[in-house]
Amino acid sequence: VQQQTVAKLVLLGEMGSGKSSLVLRYVKGQFFDYQASTVGAAFLTKTIPELNVKFEIWDTAGQERYHSLAPMYYRGAMAAVIVYDITSTESLTRAKSWVKELQRQGNPNLIMALAGNKADLEEQRAVSSEEAAAYAAENNLFFLETSAKTAANVSELFMDIARKLPRV
Ligand code: GTP
Ligand code: MG
Repeated sequence: VQQQTVAKLVLLGEMGSGKSSLVLRYVKGQFFDYQASTVGAAFLTKTIPELNVKFEIWDTAGQERYHSLAPMYYRGAMAAVIVYDITSTESLTRAKSWVKELQRQGNPNLIMALAGNKADLEEQRAVSSEEAAAYAAENNLFFLETSAKTAANVSELFMDIARKLPRV
């Protein structure tokens, strides 16, 4: 019998980019138009039986005053999802600074994914897929555009990470 892989996963990104919404969509299949801003961090788990993987998910708070807490959540993490909002160039800038922080201080084998969320808001798009994909490729991240609202690419995002985990 293959042992279960337990993987700590952290979500980081600007306030309002949709971190909690992505996790809630993935773990509970829910979406709320008025999702409360996270205080501190939220913890959820999700098991993928077919891959024998259990994710221990830390959904961090994007508000700047919580920034100093972030290392507690990314330390020891096997995977990180850095989220930005495709309607906000500023949120991509913030995502890039998270990537830099993780490259400097995170686990050197960290699996990093860049998620361009709110892909359903195509008419308000401010960040092109090409720009984000090029940035991701340069930095060894894998990249997907997601929508917590429609569920597009949400389970794909977590499944792609699960498949990249080192197997025990
Ligand atoms: P903090 O906890 O403050 O860091 O924010 P967050 O990154 O967890 O964002 P949250 O999930 O709270 O979402 C912020 C707002 O964006 C909420 O009103 C959500 O309903 C909305 N939202 C999240 N994801 C999507 C999406 O994919 N599409 C659309 N249209 N709205 C979204
Ligand atoms: Mg949140």
